[in-house]
Amino acid sequence: MVRRAFSVISHLSMASIWMHLSRPRMIPVHLGAPQDAAPIPATLALFPGVTKEQVEVTSAEWQGNHHFFWELNSNFFARRSRRLQFSPKGEFLYLIVRLQKPAVMVETGVFDGISSTIILQAMEDNGTGSLVSIDLPAHQPIAESTDAMKERELPDGRDPGWLIPEYLRHRHRLELGDSRKILPEILQQQSAIDIFLHDSLHSAEHMWFEYETAWPCLRSGGLLLSDDATWTPAFHRFSRVRRRSYVRVDDLAALRK
Ligand SMILES: C[S@@+](CC[C@H](N)C(=O)[O-])C[C@H]1O[C@@H](n2cnc3c(N)ncnc32)[C@H](O)[C@@H]1O
Repeated sequence: MVRRAFSVISHLSMASIWMHLSRPRMIPVHLGAPQDAAPIPATLALFPGVTKEQVEVTSAEWQGNHHFFWELNSNFFARRSRRLQFSPKGEFLYLIVRLQKPAVMVETGVFDGISSTIILQAMEDNGTGSLVSIDLPAHQPIAESTDAMKERELPDGRDPGWLIPEYLRHRHRLELGDSRKILPEILQQQSAIDIFLHDSLHSAEHMWFEYETAWPCLRSGGLLLSDDATWTPAFHRFSRVRRRSYVRVDDLAALRK
């Protein structure tokens, strides 16, 4: 444990050290959490039956989809006056959806629609799948959710998911409302779901609520994903309670039921 603590601390920037000191409840989580991995090794760990070559080919399809990146960037720039920065966790999300090939996936937290667009592009490339997204429209900043983001509210007159290109919308259904109320209702409408992604309100209590609500509706072998999983101890604790190990790329964490 002491060696692990030194190893974790030696890899941290001053900003991260300050972040840990200001949130002491996260220190045990970081000491027990898996290391931040790159998308390809994290995917291989999550899909043990898949070959490295298969993941690399799929990664190249993501990296080489110039039409997708062009479409997204030009739509984003028109409203946000800046280019999108794709982090490794965007690629991880794409790889997960490509390899899991979900028939039904549910996500909470849409905002501009970056994660929705990545998921829908992966479904399009699979030739199968539909996505149900839940969002409380962030027309004003929402504490413990959009208030920590670069843009804290939707552009004027725009609905959640405004960024999703037209050619991907045929696989998408958007449900507006508080996930605390409508997530159980929406999950009951599905026989079983293949992937659940949390990215809505990041209080520990709400994260736990969504994981617990989605878990019984996930099919055996399905995947529970959480963005911003290192904001609170909720995902780490959930993995301990359910006795499942998890992998993460940055703060996108994934475990298999
Ligand atoms: C971090 S943003 C989602 C970002 C999005 N996944 C993306 O990749 O662009 C969080 C979103 O969660 C929504 N949200 C916050 N609290 C919510 C709640 N209780 N129920 C449903 N959505 C909520 C906000 O409106 C906001 O759109």
